[in-house]
Amino acid sequence: MSEKIKFTIDGKECYAEPGQTILEAALDNGVYIPSLCYLKDVIPAGSCRICNVKVAGRFMTACTTPVAMGMEVENDIPELNELRVSIIEMLFVSGNHFCPACEKSGNCELQALAYKYTMMVPRYPYLFPEKKPDSGNKKLFIDRNRCILCKRCIRAVKDEQGRSLFAFKNRGNELAISLDHELAENISDELAEEAMEICPVGSILKKEKGFQQPIGHRKFDKQAIGSDIKSVIK
Ligand code: FES
Repeated sequence: MSEKIKFTIDGKECYAEPGQTILEAALDNGVYIPSLCYLKDVIPAGSCRICNVKVAGRFMTACTTPVAMGMEVENDIPELNELRVSIIEMLFVSGNHFCPACEKSGNCELQALAYKYTMMVPRYPYLFPEKKPDSGNKKLFIDRNRCILCKRCIRAVKDEQGRSLFAFKNRGNELAISLDHELAENISDELAEEAMEICPVGSILKKEKGFQQPIGHRKFDKQAIGSDIKSVIK
């Protein structure tokens, strides 16, 4: 049996399996590290940077950094939490996140993180992007102006042969997700539903699902993100 790796997060003694990342081990030890692009059992992308922690004075993404014996991880400290607020603000201003009118309100991880870290008015100017939405699929609607480019859909929404239904197109400010309409033509209700859930914001929506669960009764309306560690583990 492989030996567990002993390390600490904010002084709390934790144990990890060999090869586990800081984020996975933190969740196993009941410690919440915020994440947006992380998905359990999916190769990490390290794209959102919200999971940044400090190890030996250096910033590291917890979702991509393996735990090492004796590692001392700093997580819930003012410096990192302030950094997280600025990342959340940047994500808000670079998209059109009009929460009161969004189907994902209450189930949106970005909105929930904004509440958790008490984001007020962003310090950055709003960009109000005008990326074209895609309503061409029978079951999915894609609002690219809400996409935070986390790549979760690209990495996790696949057909039976393992082909990704989503990809990035364009570059720079025009970078956007696109759906492969040929592959997604006969997408099942289950996979369409899964795609909507995998999206941490309201960019991928399942058609005919609007507001089935009333706002006020949704996941993060009831409890703050991270207060139930199990709900973080998808
Ligand atoms: Fe680690 Fe996004 S969760 S970079």
